Amino acid sequence: MAKIIAPSILSADFAKLGEEVRAIDAAGADWVHVDVMDGHFVPNITIGPDVVKAIRPHTGKVMDVHLMIAPCDPYLEAFAAAGADIITVHPEAGPHTHRSLQTIRALGKKAGVSLNPATSERDIEHLIDIIDLILVMTVNPGFGGQKFIAAMTEKIRRIKAMTAGRDIRIQVDGGITADTAPDAAHAGADAFVAGTAVFNGPHGKDYAANIAAIRDAADATAGALA
Ligand code: DX5
Ligand code: ZN
Repeated sequence: MAKIIAPSILSADFAKLGEEVRAIDAAGADWVHVDVMDGHFVPNITIGPDVVKAIRPHTGKVMDVHLMIAPCDPYLEAFAAAGADIITVHPEAGPHTHRSLQTIRALGKKAGVSLNPATSERDIEHLIDIIDLILVMTVNPGFGGQKFIAAMTEKIRRIKAMTAGRDIRIQVDGGITADTAPDAAHAGADAFVAGTAVFNGPHGKDYAANIAAIRDAADATAGALA
């Protein structure tokens, strides 16, 4: 699968989100990663469906909505209506993850499931038939700018094996930079979320250069794999 770079707007300037979304779209972002946080499931509060609706007209790219909220079921329809293309939920957020994924697909959206660092991929093995994307948290969710948890590389490898032969994206999220993307790519990740490394990366506000640096690092590894 072609590598996907999905800048997380958590690290964008919230005072001008429309402009920031247009900028990363023009800078080569494949998806726009939207981190929704409720201050309950994670110790931070960010945005809701109305903000997704407000930024939707500013890009034609995939809106990749990561719900770090509990419960998530009452809000799936609102995020779908707001313009999400992918809706990703956490199994840790409630007891009915199978139903959440069924609901997302019934709403015509791609269904993602995200695993906190402490959650095993074994917890979602039985959901494999209704998953389009697995998001491996490589930091503890809630904040940008944290350090990549190297131990997650083994989990990515196991998920790569678990999803062999299936059209399931393996996405990584947290501490992804040009330095850490290679390990994740080598283990089998094909979609890379990056907030700090894009919005405050090594090339400053040159979002295109920051995105290209991550993409080139991940692609170089893929070559090594071949
Ligand atoms: C953390 C979010 C991540 C975060 C990534 O809870 O889910 O998407 O924004 O930020 P960086 O790339 O700065 O680690
Ligand atoms: Zn995220």
